[in-house]
Amino acid sequence: MSNKTILITGASSGVGLAAARQLAALGARLILVFRDPARGQASRDQIASLATGPEPIFISADLSSRQSIRDLAAVLHERFAHIDVLINNAGTASGTRELTADALEKTFATNHLGPFLLTNLVLDLIAPGGRVINTVSETHTGRMDFDNLQGERHYSFFSAYARSKAAEILFTYELARRLQGTGITANCFTPGPTASGFGKGTHGFIRVMSTLVQVIGRRPEVSARTAVYLAASPEMDGVTGQYFFHDRPARSKPVTYDTAIAARLWSVSEALTGASEHTAMEAIR
Ligand SMILES: NC(=O)c1ccc[n+]([C@@H]2O[C@H](COP(=O)([O-])OP(=O)(O)OC[C@H]3O[C@@H](n4cnc5c(N)ncnc54)[C@H](OP(=O)(O)O)[C@@H]3O)[C@@H](O)[C@H]2O)c1
Repeated sequence: MSNKTILITGASSGVGLAAARQLAALGARLILVFRDPARGQASRDQIASLATGPEPIFISADLSSRQSIRDLAAVLHERFAHIDVLINNAGTASGTRELTADALEKTFATNHLGPFLLTNLVLDLIAPGGRVINTVSETHTGRMDFDNLQGERHYSFFSAYARSKAAEILFTYELARRLQGTGITANCFTPGPTASGFGKGTHGFIRVMSTLVQVIGRRPEVSARTAVYLAASPEMDGVTGQYFFHDRPARSKPVTYDTAIAARLWSVSEALTGASEHTAMEAIR
């Protein structure tokens, strides 16, 4: 990993922090994207203390905000000639329906639209042989309801989260198809139930479930190994369009393999984010 540049989002806690620590120890040059500068600095220092390669670089961005993602992409283009691995790991789930500054439902905006926009805006920076890795979840819905993508009709913590993660899986597979022939791969993985910061700040039944995961879930260091495997393993050269669990390809729900739904979701996501997908795709061909 010593000559690899890896961008990872959501590295301030949980799976992202653990993955960043392991990749830093392997000598990768890390670009860490954090939302909160103070938390980010503390995590960056912790990751830096393990680095066997270059010092990690820290950039703040709110991945639920289109403008913030565009600003992040501009900084990346200014400062870096290329990125080898992009790990879209940041994720959230709102107990109640909240809207972002762009008037988008927050869980969908952060977990699907954020990775979609960021990936599209930096695709031209990803080197041939590069890898896009999305952190998804086994909790993904079995059907995509385009009339309720943002919980407009009915909203619950679980359905919003499951919908956003199914969207992220559909995005991964569609991206892999669109990247055929470019040498860039796209895969996703679920860390499985993990005792991370996820669900902190929730209430009631959701809080009970989060507390249970804190007790029975895997340690972030263990869950992060799949991210590290996907980012670093030579066995992953050329492997694309897969969903991984415990370093092994697994099957996601049937709806995520529906290419018509994936193409429709791509168009909807482009409209919601204003992503200039064609520019980025053309730039890498
Ligand atoms: N934990 C589980 O059981 C589990 C299971 C399956 C999948 N996952 C997935 O694993 C990924 C990592 O989650 P985790 O379990 O490690 O939880 P976590 O400890 O809560 O970490 C989530 C990370 O995402 C960041 N984040 C959230 N919203 C953001 C935003 N708007 N902009 C920028 N960063 C943002 C958080 O930053 P802050 O520190 O600023 O909040 C934090 O660094 C997520 O995609 C999650 O959906 C988790």
